[in-house]
Amino acid sequence: MRTPVIAGNWKMFKTLEETKAFFQELGNMEFPSQVEAVVCAPFLSLPWMGEHVSNKVGVGAQNCHFETEGAYTGEISLPMLQTVGAKYVILGHSERRQYFAETDEVVNQKVRAVIAHQLVPILCVGESLAEKEANRTNEVVKEQVVKGLADVSADDAKKAIIAYEPVWAIGSGKAATAEDAEEVIGYIRQVLAEIYDQTTADAVRIQYGGSVKPENIATFLAQPNIDGALVGGASLKAESYAQLVQNAVQGGK
Ligand code: PGA
Repeated sequence: MRTPVIAGNWKMFKTLEETKAFFQELGNMEFPSQVEAVVCAPFLSLPWMGEHVSNKVGVGAQNCHFETEGAYTGEISLPMLQTVGAKYVILGHSERRQYFAETDEVVNQKVRAVIAHQLVPILCVGESLAEKEANRTNEVVKEQVVKGLADVSADDAKKAIIAYEPVWAIGSGKAATAEDAEEVIGYIRQVLAEIYDQTTADAVRIQYGGSVKPENIATFLAQPNIDGALVGGASLKAESYAQLVQNAVQGGK
């Protein structure tokens, strides 16, 4: 039984004050216990979140360095994230691949470091529009999954979350159809079975991401292989975030 995980990806939005206002508004809203609710916020909000809201949502970062310390100006390490109560780290988001030149090899180093520090990696994969139009979706996601999980044991892979995010669906308002997302995510599970074994493939949670909203989240979660969502824009407002978590349960999981 895979517990669905709904993770907000706040990207470069919200000052600490805005973060506090969000959680104040979220207040005592009840979350269904069948769903794991996570918010991946900018680093500066994490210490406060770790202290004040980690009983309500899982606290996540959006990046990290793979070394524990060193001369890496501007970077944040996993021991630093551990001390503020972060439990998840988004890795290899397409914006980091595109704007910050993150390669599969770097993403893999980060995945292994996150697992070694007992945090949960949310490994993002997904094809661009050009790749989709060239019918290369499976080939692209397979390469990202295989390289991203290189030298990760089956037991460690079971702890990871994979987010399938077609690049053309991110922030575009044009989500994939639930059927198309299910097809690719089913394929990713098949790739996991090839790399590891069926038991491992069946244990890994795989999210869909890209223009998920309270109105469409249930259709994704109703699919047998889709175990949650990674949500950008629609996770920024407290009411919308709460609806995402609540509506995820209607997906029948
Ligand atoms: P979106 O972003 O929900 O705004 O499309 C998703 C993401 O980038 O993780």
